[in-house]
Amino acid sequence: MANVILDKTKRGWWKSAVFYELYPKSFQDSTGSGVGDLRGILSRLDYLETLGIDAIWLCPVCASPQVDNGYDISDFCAIDPLFGTMADMEELIAEGKKRGIGILMDLTLNHSSNQHRWFREARKSRDNPYHDYYVWRDGGADTPPNDMRAVFGGSAWEYVPEVGQWYFHQFAPEQPDLNWDNPALRQELYKVLRFWVRKGVAGFRLDVIDQIAKDPDRGITINGPRLDEFLREMSREALSGEGLVTVGEAWGADVQRARRYSAPDGSELSMVFQFEHIGLDQQPGREKWDLAPLSLPKLKECVRRWQQGLYGVGWNSLFFNNHDLPRIVSRWGSDGEYRVVSAKMLATMLYGLQGTPYIYQGEELGMTNIRLKLEQYQDLEIHNLYRERTAQGYDPRDVMESIWARGRDNARTPMQWTAGENAGFTTGTPWLPVNENYREINAEAALADPDSVFHYYRRLIALRKTMDVFRDGWFALLCPEDERVFAYTRETQEGHLLVVCNFTGEHAPFVCPEAFRNARALIANYPDTEQGILRPYEAKMLYYGA
Ligand code: NOJ
Repeated sequence: MANVILDKTKRGWWKSAVFYELYPKSFQDSTGSGVGDLRGILSRLDYLETLGIDAIWLCPVCASPQVDNGYDISDFCAIDPLFGTMADMEELIAEGKKRGIGILMDLTLNHSSNQHRWFREARKSRDNPYHDYYVWRDGGADTPPNDMRAVFGGSAWEYVPEVGQWYFHQFAPEQPDLNWDNPALRQELYKVLRFWVRKGVAGFRLDVIDQIAKDPDRGITINGPRLDEFLREMSREALSGEGLVTVGEAWGADVQRARRYSAPDGSELSMVFQFEHIGLDQQPGREKWDLAPLSLPKLKECVRRWQQGLYGVGWNSLFFNNHDLPRIVSRWGSDGEYRVVSAKMLATMLYGLQGTPYIYQGEELGMTNIRLKLEQYQDLEIHNLYRERTAQGYDPRDVMESIWARGRDNARTPMQWTAGENAGFTTGTPWLPVNENYREINAEAALADPDSVFHYYRRLIALRKTMDVFRDGWFALLCPEDERVFAYTRETQEGHLLVVCNFTGEHAPFVCPEAFRNARALIANYPDTEQGILRPYEAKMLYYGA
């Protein structure tokens, strides 16, 4: 099936598109440094074209001390030499365009690095013109302004003796929060966005964008009172180019808010990444490290609410994976005997929905989690967690179980390209170990096998681009209480789609609705069907026209 290339100058092109999240550090190294880079990505564009994706969400490649793998940016308009040069970036944008692949820049407009020129100036004195670019509060050196905690652990305040004040940071101390209440700061950020628009990017992924309008005195970090105002201003001043797409990371979005953030008039963002579904297997009110089994009825109800709640009035992002989440096949599928069928089942469930799907690199190969020793992990969040929890008296073995299940480095191991040394990722020493299973799970093997997870994704992507029911159909949930089967329909006047997925490694009864008895199978992860029963992780999409 030939690739359908979407016209990215048309508003809403992304409603038929599939995006690919690329983590540059782990994608492809071209120099032997052990770290992936832009020229490495260039050398793999043909692979992405074969998969059929429309755009790359490129995790941060801007200049950065790399305390949080590029999410601590020290110059928003420069490329980090670790990844290459601005010329490489321009080439990537141009080569992507030739293949119908747009580039989304990932920018952290909520915070900068403490090595950013603005912050180095800001901390010099209270009268410095950049001081007010950040969020400061008075207070004695021993007493932070309040007891707010940072996401990566510890206090959210850091003292700077030169100014006798504390600055606010929701993440690491090296990631001071920007002060969006200051109009001058906002204008600087809009300049950054316009800089990248001029370079020809297709849009932006905006890191923790629902956290920009903070009010730390009232303990507010998410969905702050001025958030809609800021988003509208940003959209008006910097994102009005035809066809620009914006996806905002929004941990705090509920359906009501997401309707505003992703309103079809484009006044705020194109869509948000919300995380309600992906947090369902943690203990309520606790942190992601506090594991709990997934309840399928709860997942179904959550998906129903978002699908119906945004229908016609907003737009969903569809994802199970990203660089902050463990691998879904290890989490809700099976990474043993049923790895291939369960990876396909999870994709089937997601790709039948309304929204823009995001593939996280390696998901299309069914890449799995990894179990490392503590000292092999690179992520600061993992090390902070271990320190904090063991100090609080947690059993170190339980902490390691949480890290193996939820640690961010699970998703960050190098891309598995071949069965050769270091999975073809680097000729040097990889910055994070390659998963041992690369000899079996790698792109070369997947491309050569018509039944691979890769080719299944390729077919799903092609289906979504050619059939309107995926973009337009109304979602209805079937058998909401069933603990094993996730089934739903999508319907337009012309087309009727049924998606059926067995979420377990056992047989599960399922009676096909009468209307779909003679429907045609669009895609399935078993070569044949059995009446009235689904086999382990069996999944299919059935369709009939008007
Ligand atoms: C969300 C990003 O996805 C994550 O990787 C990062 O650590 C934080 N935001 C801080 O930028």
